[in-house]
Amino acid sequence: MTLLQKDKQFVWHPFTAQKNRLPPIPIVQAKESLLFDEQGKSYIDAISSWWVTLHGHANPHIAQKIFEQALKLEQVIFAGFTHQPAVALAEKLLEKLPGGFSKIFYSDNGSTSTEVALKMAIQFWWNNDSQSKRKKILAFKNAYHGDTFGAMGVSERSVFTLAFQDLFFEVIFIDTPDENNLPALFKIIDAHAENIAAFIYEPLVQGAGGMKMYQAEYFNLLLQKVKSHDIICIADEVMTGFFRTGKFFASEYMEIKPDIICMSKGLTGGTMALGATACTDRIYDAYSSDNPLHTFFHGHSFTANPIACSAALASMELLDKEDCREKIRLLTLVIDQFTRQLNMLQGKLERPVKNIRHLGTILAFEIDEGKNEYLNSISKTITEKALKTGIYLRPLGNTVYIMPPYCITEHELKLVFDFMLSLLK
Ligand SMILES: Cc1ncc(COP(=O)(O)O)c(C=O)c1O
Repeated sequence: MTLLQKDKQFVWHPFTAQKNRLPPIPIVQAKESLLFDEQGKSYIDAISSWWVTLHGHANPHIAQKIFEQALKLEQVIFAGFTHQPAVALAEKLLEKLPGGFSKIFYSDNGSTSTEVALKMAIQFWWNNDSQSKRKKILAFKNAYHGDTFGAMGVSERSVFTLAFQDLFFEVIFIDTPDENNLPALFKIIDAHAENIAAFIYEPLVQGAGGMKMYQAEYFNLLLQKVKSHDIICIADEVMTGFFRTGKFFASEYMEIKPDIICMSKGLTGGTMALGATACTDRIYDAYSSDNPLHTFFHGHSFTANPIACSAALASMELLDKEDCREKIRLLTLVIDQFTRQLNMLQGKLERPVKNIRHLGTILAFEIDEGKNEYLNSISKTITEKALKTGIYLRPLGNTVYIMPPYCITEHELKLVFDFMLSLLK
C-alpha cells in the first residue's frame, strides 16, 4: 500500500469532511517558508501551518536545542518536580508579557491554555466566596477559543459547535467594539456585571472567525468598562502572540491590560505542542490558601514538557535578535504596501473584494461571492489553485488571508501577492 492508501485506511484528519475528501499531500521535508512533497515540489507556507511557524520550518537553532534537551531530560511529571527549561521559560515570558504578570501555568495546546484560563477565573471567584454568583462568561460574537468543551462554549455558535449547542455553560456574547456601539455594549455589561466571572477575547484580530479586526482605541474603552466591574479579563493571544500583530503581544496596543493571557502556537516557534497561561498575583493569591479545596486541580501528562520548553526558549532567543525584529518590520511594511495596492485596485478588479485589512504580519480580505461563511466553497477552489502554483493558502470560507513565517523572502511574498491578484483579475 502507498502512504496515501494507508493514510485513507488508518488516519482521521482534523477539520476535514471524511467523505469524498481530496487526498492529503504527503510532505516529506520542510525548510524555512517551504514545504516539500514526495515529488520534490515545493509549496510556500503562506499561513505558517495553522499560524504556528515563526522562524521557518526546520530551524537549525531550535532543532539543536530540542536534540540536546531530548538527550538530557525528555519528560518528567510536573507535580512535585520541576526543571530548568520550565523555570527559565516562565521567567522569560514574565519579562516579556505586558502588565503585571507573576505566574505561568503550563498546558499543551491553545485550547487547553484557554480552558485553563476559564477554569482559573471561575475558581478564583469560588475560592474567594463559595457562594459567588459570578459564573457567567462574557465573550465576543464570532470568537474562536479552541475545540475543548469550555473553549467551544465561549466561542461563536457556528458550524464548529452545532452538535454540542445545548451542552455549553452560559455565555453573554457581545459585538466587537466600534465607534457606534460602545453605549449599547456598556448597557449589556452593566446589566449582567455582578454575575460575570470573566471576559475572554482575541485581542484586535478574531482569527478563525475570519481574521476580523477591530480597533484598539474603542477596545480600550470597553476594557475600561469591564474592569470597572472587577471582571477578570482573559486575553487569548494564542494566535496574536509573538509579533503576529507587529507587537510582542497584541495586548500592548491597549492601555488596559488583561489579568490572564493565553499562549500557544508561536510559543515554541511552531515546533512543538505547548500551552501557557499567565496570571497576575491577584488571581494567584486566591489559590495560595490553607484550604486544600482551593487547589487548582488541573494538569496534563505533558504539562511543561522539557523538550517543548527548550524549543520555546530557543524561539524566544531568536525573537530577541535584531535581524528577526528587522524581518518582522520588513514583512509588516511589505504587507502594508500590498494592502494599499489592493485598496487602489478595488472597484477595478473583476472579482469584487471587500474589507481589505491588515495588522502587523496578517493580511485579509473577503471575496464578495456567495455567503460570508466558513462553508463557502470558494475556499477549497482557491486552495487547489494555489497548490498548483506552489503556494499553500487555506481561506476561511470566502476570507482570503496570509500569515507567513517571518523568514519568508521578498521573492516568495511577491509570488503569493501575484497569486492573490490573479485570483481577483
Ligand atoms: C485565538 C485562538 N485560541 C485558541 C485556539 C486553539 O488552539 P489549538 O488549536 O492549539 O487548540 C486557536 C486556534 O486556532 C486560536 O486561534
